[in-house]
Amino acid sequence: MEAAVQASDAVDTALAPGQPVIEVRGVWSVFALPGGGQHVVHQDLDLTVRRGEVLTLVGGSGTGKTVLLRHMLGLTRPARGQATVLGRPAGELAREGAAARVGMLFQQGALFSAFSVLDNIAFALRESGALPPALVREAALLKLQMVGLKASDAHKMPAELSGGMIKRVALARALIMDPPLLMLDEPTAGLDPDSSDAFVALLRALHQELGLTVVMVTHDLDTLFELSSRVAVLADKRVIINAPVPEVLAFEHPFIRHFFLGERGRRAMELLRQRQHARPAQGD
Ligand SMILES: Nc1ncnc2c1ncn2[C@@H]1O[C@H](COP(=O)(O)OP(=O)(O)O)[C@@H](O)[C@H]1O
Ligand SMILES: [Mg+2]
Repeated sequence: MEAAVQASDAVDTALAPGQPVIEVRGVWSVFALPGGGQHVVHQDLDLTVRRGEVLTLVGGSGTGKTVLLRHMLGLTRPARGQATVLGRPAGELAREGAAARVGMLFQQGALFSAFSVLDNIAFALRESGALPPALVREAALLKLQMVGLKASDAHKMPAELSGGMIKRVALARALIMDPPLLMLDEPTAGLDPDSSDAFVALLRALHQELGLTVVMVTHDLDTLFELSSRVAVLADKRVIINAPVPEVLAFEHPFIRHFFLGERGRRAMELLRQRQHARPAQGD
């Protein structure tokens, strides 16, 4: 049994519990400046994402969070270093069509405005040609229900949807091929507080039920505290710490102090303390 596992390909090995599913090693991201010269965004950056965790990536605006997600998706190639996803170079994954391995929820929702809800959700599965149209439809309807939408929403157009519904459709679309990995760029940005709480609760439930590994960018502290197994902090062109919240809070760095311990940070921490008090068995 053990030998069989070891003999199987790198993808299966990477799916063992607690194993690294994403490894970013020695990455440099460099962009040419319009007036000549170079803008170094990442310098010798390392990041490991382990199976089953929710890794939250934080950093100031322009520190390269989205660029790092794009490296992990294989959409942008680093100037140096590499990103390995499920044991394979991220670029290979992208060329083969990543939807079966990695679901991506883009910051703007990014639905196709001319497609119905159901056709948006079905998109990657339909394109793959793996199933006949009737089964694609069934699969999309299942995902629609999984994200808390009603069958009667299936034929709505994106322009008719609230912000919270757009996020749900985008999430269903990201999960249509049942990928083990999900990436979220600012999943609750632009949502009102109730919709944001509801979406966070949905993400929490799906993470647990589907055993997903999640990489999330957010600057919303409620979302961060509610979902994160670990927090990776991007500053000084690299990941300065990748650890559970209490360790990150204890780490001395001006950005961390500003991000967590400013006015809004104190409010969020108070909420966190209340929640932990109300739910002592959270880790079970
Ligand atoms: N394709 C590109 N060409 C030039 N500069 C880029 C490109 N993509 C990102 N950048 C620059 O890289 C930096 C990081 O961008 P980004 O990852 O979007 O930051 P954020 O952490 O806010 O998501 C920014 O200064 C941005 O202008
Ligand atoms: Mg960004």
